[in-house]
Amino acid sequence: MSEHPGIAWATLRAAAAVAAGRAYAPYSHFPVGSAGLVDNGRSVTGCNVENGSYGLTLCAECGMVGDLHRSGGGRLVAAVATDPAGTPLAPCGRCRQLLLEAGGKGLVVDGPGGPKPILDLLADPFTVADLEAGGDDAS
Ligand code: THU
Repeated sequence: MSEHPGIAWATLRAAAAVAAGRAYAPYSHFPVGSAGLVDNGRSVTGCNVENGSYGLTLCAECGMVGDLHRSGGGRLVAAVATDPAGTPLAPCGRCRQLLLEAGGKGLVVDGPGGPKPILDLLADPFTVADLEAGGDDAS
């Protein structure tokens, strides 16, 4: 494990904890917040938003990536999801894929085992390069 010096993980975790306080999680009672550091130095946040049609739940990382684009775009360099106490959580599989596209292969993601490169969490990923390389080109 590496702490990846230069990234203010405590600050990022604290921002995620604040966001978790805004979660809408009446079904799971499991509030989650997420925070990301953008390559221009700003930070973005999100919280999970559940729905009575349970499968429509939006994870905190979805909201955070939405905030990234809403606030001007750029590349995520660091990201974390936490509970309301600021304890890092493991991102779900779908969110790992989402984080990879928002951050690229240089993204570092905090979690229960400390910060790790995204490719340690999502090995051999499907990426936009696979879209360009294959598929049905009959159009
Ligand atoms: N959740 C997230 O927000 N992010 C994750 O990476 C894992 C799970 C949320 C979804 C749901 O609202 C609650 O946690 C319980 O699964």
